[in-house]
This record gives sequence, C-alpha cells and structure tokens, in this order.
Amino acid sequence: MNKQTHVSSRNYNTFQIDVSIHELYTLSSKLDFEQVPALIREGYKILGGGSNILMSSDVKVPVFHVRNKGIEIVLEKEEYVLASIGAGENWHDVVMWAIDHDYGGIENLSLIPGNAGTAPIQNIGAYGIEIKDVLHSLKAFRVSDGLEYSFHNSECQFAYRDSIFKNVLKGKFIISEIILQLTKAGHHRINTSYGAIQSKLKEKAVVNPGISDVSEAVIEIRTAKLPDPSRIGNAGSFFKNPVIPVKQFEKLKLSYSDMPHYPVDDDFVKLPAGWLIDQCGWKGKIIGNTGTYKNQALVLVNHGGASGREILELSEKIMKSVYDTYNIHLEREVNVWF
Ligand code: EPU
Repeated sequence: MNKQTHVSSRNYNTFQIDVSIHELYTLSSKLDFEQVPALIREGYKILGGGSNILMSSDVKVPVFHVRNKGIEIVLEKEEYVLASIGAGENWHDVVMWAIDHDYGGIENLSLIPGNAGTAPIQNIGAYGIEIKDVLHSLKAFRVSDGLEYSFHNSECQFAYRDSIFKNVLKGKFIISEIILQLTKAGHHRINTSYGAIQSKLKEKAVVNPGISDVSEAVIEIRTAKLPDPSRIGNAGSFFKNPVIPVKQFEKLKLSYSDMPHYPVDDDFVKLPAGWLIDQCGWKGKIIGNTGTYKNQALVLVNHGGASGREILELSEKIMKSVYDTYNIHLEREVNVWF
C-alpha cells in the first residue's frame, strides 16, 4: 500500500484548505483494504473525493484515501443493468459514463462533486433524485478486521442526507464498491419535477427530454448557481435544510409569510437553509478570506488562503444568526475534521 508522509492537504479537499496530513495511505486494491486493520490508530480518517470535509487543523491521525477504480456491468436484464463502480471513481465521471452508454437514473445528479464511494454515506441528492433511488447495494470492508461485507439498499437506513454510515456505522466500514441499478433505453424514468429543470428545458426549447437533456439542464443550473471548486474552494451546501414541526412553521409563517417550505409528511416541514441565511443578510458577504457564495448563501467559500478555523468560525456566526432570528438550529452537512 502506498504511504506518504507530511503531505499538503491542498489537493485533497475541495475547500482547498492547506494543512499537513501526517500519514496518507492510498487504497487502490482489495489487498490494500484488507491491510487497513494493521495500520489503524485511534481517530483514523477515511478520505474520498474530499468534497464534504472541512479540515480545521493538521491531521495527525492516519488517513486512508480510497482510490480504487473501475466500472463493470455485473448483470443485464431487459429493462435495466447493474453496474459495479469502484469507490474511487469520480461521481460526475460515473454520470457521464452512464449518459454515454444510455443508462438512466443518475442524470439529475450530474456535476455533484465527490467520489462514487462516498455518495451513499450522505445519500447525495439533487433535483428530485437521491442516490438511494438507484443504489442496489454496496460493498465495504470492516476496519476492525478487514473483512468484506455487502449491504443491500434496505440495510443502509437512507434518509435525507443521511445513512447508517453517518450513524451507528460511522467510520467502521470503508466503502469499496457501489452497485447501481440503471435503466436501459426505452425504460428511462425522466424526472423533471423540479421547477428549475422545467424552466431550463423550456428555455432550451426541449420538448421530450431524454437523459442527456436532463443532465445538460442540471449542469447549466448548477454552474450558474454553485461555485466551481477548482476555482473557488467550497464543499457545496454547508448546512442541511432544517426539518421542523408543522406547528413551529405555522407560528413562523405569521411573521414571515413568504418563507419557502417543502412538506416532509403530516408533521414536519423542510425549510431551505439558503433562504434563512440569505434573509439574515449573509449572502455574498466576505469576511477575511471566507464568505458565502454570491449566488447561493448555503455555500461557504474559501476566497483564497482561508484556514479551516476561519470557515468554522464563519459557520458558527451564521448558525447563531439564524438561531437568534428564527429559533432554528442549523446542522452542518459538511464533516469537520477537528
Ligand atoms: N434561496 C434563497 N437564497 C439563497 C439560496 C436559496 O432565497 O441564497 C432560496 C431559493 O430561492 C429557493 C430555496 O431557497 O426558494 C431553495 O434553494 P435551492 O433550490 O438552491 O436549493 P437548496 O435547498 O438550497 C438543495 C440541496 C442542494 C441541491 C439543490 C437542488 C441541501 C442541503 N442542498 O439546495 O445540494 O443541489 O437542493 O436539488 O439539501 C449539496 O448538498 O451540496 C447541494 C448543493
């Protein structure tokens, strides 16, 4: 297994935070995954595409970087295929591979940063689709003994930006492979339920959209609204959209009648954190080397040379401000490496 010492983290996290990673191990093969138990020490970290982490200081514990690649069709039926994807594949490359082969189901998830293997951990989602809708199963190595396990979709406890791998199994398994169930031509289920996709397709005069039209629309919407991490360091949505009881929402509505909201079920309502942060005056604000993005207040950015601490402090100020104004506690979506 490849080992590097005292590596700059700059190219390993989309926030472009520069701290020192003292021990970085690369996992590229089954054997590498099996060797992890011999190397772990308390507090080890697992790194994928680095698109959902904030490194707040030098990382002194061992870091295991998942890099195994490969895409293979493992089953083909009349209506769908099962595709096995190495955890180290870049997620957007997987989406582009699917579009090129006319396999449907993940076109709405175009341009989401990060790797295939970390996508199920936070159940990535956008424009009406979450990975849980297409994930058949996944394979993962147990850190304690290096044994490989298979998890069916139903065992992953998926919920909004949540799974078993963020809760009871947090850090206990390293996902090595994901198996997606993708539709074949003639069986695609095009999802244009989001108004933004409908408007974009209308603007482009697309009448009967195919999977590539949806993918292109999503790419255009995301490019306009979200900063390109290769230019401005960021980790996408920094906070989750808060879910609050309907009763609390009804009260808030009396003072804020224009508050956007999405029903979750009979008892709960989801509010857009971006709107709350924007209303508190944070959108596009620059504080030192950090700030929120000018087109989407939910995205915290590194304008260059920011430390993880600075971004963490900004997030705390935003949380306090939203709490003081709306009595709503924002929860970070990004994982902080303290
Ligand atoms: N809004 C504002 N001001 C802002 C940002 C948003 O008023 O600065 C309002 C918008 O006008 C809209 C509402 O808030 O009424 C929701 O905004 P948007 O449609 O941009 O979606 P979001 O809820 O902020 C979520 C996901 C995104 C995903 C989009 C599209 C979360 C935490 N974020 O954002 O996911 O791309 O929906 O489905 O659920 C990510 O997780 O990193 C991510 C980018």
